[in-house]
Amino acid sequence: MSRRAVEASAPGKLILLGEHAVVWGQPALAGAVALHTRVRIEEAEGEPFLDLPIRDARLDLALARILPARVNLRIRSDLPLGRGMGSSASLSLALVRAVALWNGESPCDAQLLERSLELEGVFHGRPSGVDSSVVLGGGLLRFQRLEARAGSPPGELARLDLRPVPSPPLPLVVLDSGQPGDTSAMVARVAARRPGIDPILAQIGQGVDRAIAEIQDIEALGQHMSRNQGWLSEIGVSTPHIDALCAFAEGAGALGAKLSGAGGGGVVIALLQPEHLPAFLARADKAGVRALAPRFPAS
Ligand code: PMV
Repeated sequence: MSRRAVEASAPGKLILLGEHAVVWGQPALAGAVALHTRVRIEEAEGEPFLDLPIRDARLDLALARILPARVNLRIRSDLPLGRGMGSSASLSLALVRAVALWNGESPCDAQLLERSLELEGVFHGRPSGVDSSVVLGGGLLRFQRLEARAGSPPGELARLDLRPVPSPPLPLVVLDSGQPGDTSAMVARVAARRPGIDPILAQIGQGVDRAIAEIQDIEALGQHMSRNQGWLSEIGVSTPHIDALCAFAEGAGALGAKLSGAGGGGVVIALLQPEHLPAFLARADKAGVRALAPRFPAS
């Protein structure tokens, strides 16, 4: 007889505009990216084992909370871990989905969101909810945090349409700094600089809504991204390496570039004219910059 097993997955995310400010009530623009975390839970025949991409105390804690007894667990991730691409939200949702399947439950989206957000809280102290909402909802979303209230969702969501899209939907390249960023530490750093930096956080929020108003204009979006990077530098979450990657991207023809996620390491995203994508990737390769062009936004 074959062993009982269930599998589930969830995508990662990229924040186009608005990280950090979103923690403090400003809107953000973010979407799901076609890189996934896959989770398999199976009945253990002997001693249960964990087959994980990393060993991490926070992951151990999350698993202790959620994993059923006497099962083997396999986790595979296409996402670079701890680089601001939503690996923890993606893992949390994939785990919550797999455990629900294992328990024979069919939770609705609101329940899945609540459970995955709770699990994501093990990884970050004070998640805004943008990551969990985007990996669950897919597509491209405007997210604005709501006052925390029991039973209510973490934020208000509006789905955005990119109508006359080139293929891939947005010609976006992800440049990996190779350095992990610590989201909790970066969020705490920003918190410590408030209220002095609140006018910058408000400018970030206004920039998000201006970009959304002209979302079909790829050149304008690139300019919004570079302006946003300037503000992220001002609030202290960029690094010299990230600044150098943004300069590389703009020098190689990007319409705009910025860090994505918490910063302090992580990834840079660069927006291109679709026809410039192959030459840009070749240039990155030659310069030894790790670059990928995943489908974004993904469903
Ligand atoms: O680095 P990531 O993928 O966890 O993104 C964090 C985004 C922040 O705005 C910095 C934090 C949050 O919870 O919204």
